[in-house]
Amino acid sequence: MTDVPHLTDATPFPQDRTCPYHPPAGYDPLRSSRPLARIKLFDGRPAWLVTGHSAARALLADPRLSTDRTDPGYPATNPRLAALRQKSVTPRGVDDPGHHRVERRKVIPGFSVNRAAGLKSRIQQIVDELIDAMIERGPTAELVSAFALPVPSMVICEVLGVPYDDHEFFELQSRRLLRGPTVADSMDAREQLEKYLGDLVDRKQHEPGSGVPGMLDDLVHERLRDGTYDRTELVTFAVVLLVAGHESTANMISLGVYTLLEHPKQLDEVRQDPALLPAAIEELLRMLAVSDGLLRVATEDVEVEGTTIRTGEGVVFATSLINRDESVYDAPDVLDWHRPVRHHLTFGFGMHQCLGQNIARVELEIALGTLLRRLPDLRLAVPAEEIPCKPGDTIQGLLELPVTW
Ligand code: HEM
Repeated sequence: MTDVPHLTDATPFPQDRTCPYHPPAGYDPLRSSRPLARIKLFDGRPAWLVTGHSAARALLADPRLSTDRTDPGYPATNPRLAALRQKSVTPRGVDDPGHHRVERRKVIPGFSVNRAAGLKSRIQQIVDELIDAMIERGPTAELVSAFALPVPSMVICEVLGVPYDDHEFFELQSRRLLRGPTVADSMDAREQLEKYLGDLVDRKQHEPGSGVPGMLDDLVHERLRDGTYDRTELVTFAVVLLVAGHESTANMISLGVYTLLEHPKQLDEVRQDPALLPAAIEELLRMLAVSDGLLRVATEDVEVEGTTIRTGEGVVFATSLINRDESVYDAPDVLDWHRPVRHHLTFGFGMHQCLGQNIARVELEIALGTLLRRLPDLRLAVPAEEIPCKPGDTIQGLLELPVTW
């Protein structure tokens, strides 16, 4: 068995990024500790950090690692998550066999590659209208609020059947949920989202056909009735979909634009040859690792590559380091979409792998591709160092992105 470094030597996790597209410099010592390192969480609790690519895939596919956040050993990377630990969340916090029931069997067809492809023309229309509005008000814009957030927010509203007119409300609540100033604020935001989506589910159930149609209608009319879900499960699932559906993709759009603008050679290449876009997006997903810090708890002893994780120990997956494992990616800190395809873990892996990844890819391709085509002189409006990153304990992204063209 590998020796476990004493906790006082453990690196604090998470830390804030200084460069928006690289892991924090404070993670450097962790790079030489693959596949696992010891970390210290915000509350002083120890946990394992998975940093190696093959160990991460093995562990994320291992049913002995649980997403049950009510388990006392479940790790938390900030006080908000620690407080939310008291409540289970469908489907993210449900292990098999329950997970299979609530998600894969009934819901996945709605997120298939074909369904995502079917959204293309509507997404293109949304993207074009937002760029038209930017051009009309331009030639400067704050890209997060003018583009990166409204694109996925509008798309997830249409997919689920949530009225976009309410976007200011639910965007604010998900911001408070993920980055609220206090734990109480985040808990309140979550209650507000549950109340909002609970009311919507009830309206869809009792006044069918009255609102915006979407996947929630199918879930209410088919899956609530046949007992696949009870109301509480359906509402928590709706909260996860609404928040996950716009937050991560918005961060990828703004960080993706920033990263391309900071890599003029690569930007020029993809502008000249838009057929490179899908590969460019996979590489950006690998490099940006917006979902840094996936959480699990061991429900049995698990041995991985010579180290034993004991029952009850918390496990954190550093996708920013896993996606830069030198044994899998040559020159991992370089943005290079010509590298051989090796699956990054930005959408996770195994049973809980991102349900919305096909939709996210279509959104990213259309959003970034159209922006680069329609605004060929797009550039940062302020020095790159002045652009603020989101804190390290949330989904990675930019708070603002002032641009001009
Ligand atoms: C670039 C954008 C996105 C990224 C990087 C991302 C990342 C992730 C990751 C890493 C997980 C797994 C979490 C874990 O294992 O603990 C996940 C799960 C999930 N994502 Fe995404 N996501 C994105 C977009 C979306 C979209 C657009 C939707 C909805 C339309 C969505 C819905 C979900 C859901 C429902 C789960 C939970 C799946 C489960 O537990 O079985 N995501 N996402």
